[in-house]
Amino acid sequence: MKFFADTADVADIADLAATGLLDGVTTNPSLIAKSGRNFLEVVKEICGLVDGPVSAEVVATDHATMMKEAAVLRALAPNICVKLPLTLDGLKSCKALTAEGVKTNVTLCFSANQALLAAKAGATYVSPFVGRLDDIGHDGMELIQDIRTIYDNYDFQTEILVASVRSPVHVLAAARIGADVATMPPAVIRQLAGHALTEKGLAAFLADWAKTGQSIL
Ligand code: E4P
Repeated sequence: MKFFADTADVADIADLAATGLLDGVTTNPSLIAKSGRNFLEVVKEICGLVDGPVSAEVVATDHATMMKEAAVLRALAPNICVKLPLTLDGLKSCKALTAEGVKTNVTLCFSANQALLAAKAGATYVSPFVGRLDDIGHDGMELIQDIRTIYDNYDFQTEILVASVRSPVHVLAAARIGADVATMPPAVIRQLAGHALTEKGLAAFLADWAKTGQSIL
């Protein structure tokens, strides 16, 4: 399972990339606004920090303008993945960009039928938003399971990129289902490594080690 960081914070991305565990980055207009930086500049910088795909989202709502924006984004770096909304214009643009060999991420997916359309449009990734579904009383993970079943039924190659991840519980559930990727806030990636018993056990080992008066180096 691949892990993407869902952020436009370059310091966080650089820190996570240094672990060797980061497979890509996703951004969206809200995350760009939060960064307070110029969109094209910050995305280009992020592309230089990771080897994997960096999703950068178009903001046009019509096909023709989406294609023009996609051309600008594609020119930023070879690892750009053009992010498109799950609308008919977004799907049309996805189909056209896929035919040109461009990586695409169809975002704002909230139903299995939408995911089916994204796959038919040849999307590299589809982004179902589990947290936002949970927020309105639906079961986000049920959607991931449905998409997995449908994609496997028809051998679609579109990767399921679980988005709107709020906690390690989402990551574990997505992994159990066999989702291809989870994109998550840096804090959630760091949380995955933590466990109270790991901290307690390490503190005890270090205390006992100190009693020996030895050093390795
Ligand atoms: C995915 O690509 C989106 O950027 C993101 O996961 C949305 O998450 P949110 O619902 O926490 O805003």
